[in-house]
Amino acid sequence: MSSVTKPGLEDDDYQGEEANLALIFDRYKDRFTSFPKEKGWMTEDLYKYQGFWHQSKNVVSVETVMATQDTFQALPTDIYLATLPKSGTTWLKALVFATANRNMYKDKPLSAHPLQTSNPHSCLPFVECEVLRTSPTYVNPHSPRIFATHMPYTSLPQSVLDSGCRIVYMCRNPKDVLVSLFHFANKLRVNSHDLMTFDVAFEMFTKGVIPNGPYWDHVKGYYKVGLEQPKRLMFLTYEDMKMDTAKKLRRLAKFVGYPFTEEEEAKGMVEEIVSLCSFENLREVNKDGALSIGIPNQAFFREGKVGDWRNHLTVEMSQILDQITKEKFHGLDLITSACM
Ligand code: A3P
Repeated sequence: MSSVTKPGLEDDDYQGEEANLALIFDRYKDRFTSFPKEKGWMTEDLYKYQGFWHQSKNVVSVETVMATQDTFQALPTDIYLATLPKSGTTWLKALVFATANRNMYKDKPLSAHPLQTSNPHSCLPFVECEVLRTSPTYVNPHSPRIFATHMPYTSLPQSVLDSGCRIVYMCRNPKDVLVSLFHFANKLRVNSHDLMTFDVAFEMFTKGVIPNGPYWDHVKGYYKVGLEQPKRLMFLTYEDMKMDTAKKLRRLAKFVGYPFTEEEEAKGMVEEIVSLCSFENLREVNKDGALSIGIPNQAFFREGKVGDWRNHLTVEMSQILDQITKEKFHGLDLITSACM
């Protein structure tokens, strides 16, 4: 029942990954450097590939997407957690990791749980990073592999599309994604004279120029698959998850094949996982240290709220984004739920 992974990459693994990233960059650079290019948020450039903007020289990047498409083999039992950056990826990773692996830790003290010492990103990998690994992340052939991804639906490797495996998508209000991305990018920009202004961030976002964006195309791609194939794709919103985390976690657990039993319900297992993965707990656990790729752990935990955009967007900015959302999501009931 458990999904074995390696919480926390060893330094040696990371050195191997860095070397592999350089090799992959060299292999694909002649192709992607001819693609349309824009200035990046966290990386120097963004390249447009298959209709979406991707970072480069990064573990989740145009070159690792291309390499993943060329080499990754999905299994029908795999589970993919798809998101746009800043839509709740870290939280979703934590919830699914804790749920899928709960039997492994149930008789141990809470302090022994990997999420009490490691960033969720070190517990559950991005599929885009598998091409960098010297050995595969998942070593137990009897349990489903669980990967996260920022890839748009239409860019997923053919084997993922063909395998019929389950996908969970989490979407977040675009205005909160913009604000979250703005703060995250500035945290990673080491020189203060390099800091982005919110006006520039807003303009890039409205043009669709964000890592893995345009926002609207990414969300719509997965949303439509969820409508057509609800058994295959579960569509969640950050806002709904915030409103009633326990209720949504029960549905999520069932969808990914780890439903809570009556006995577990009676013991308060659902609430335990909700609390383990709460913003407050994860922020405290991750207040120090950094991922092996150098991003400080605390950068993934800022406010954790719905509607912080009200503190950043002018009325005019909000109206412009609402208008774009209305146009892009025309005919989809997404407009009335999380996205405005
Ligand atoms: P804010 O910047 O609005 O606070 P991602 O994980 O996709 O990078 O998204 C990061 C956003 O999710 C940040 O939003 C972060 O604070 C929020 N977040 C991280 N962990 C969370 C949790 N356990 N519960 C709710 N929100 C969380």
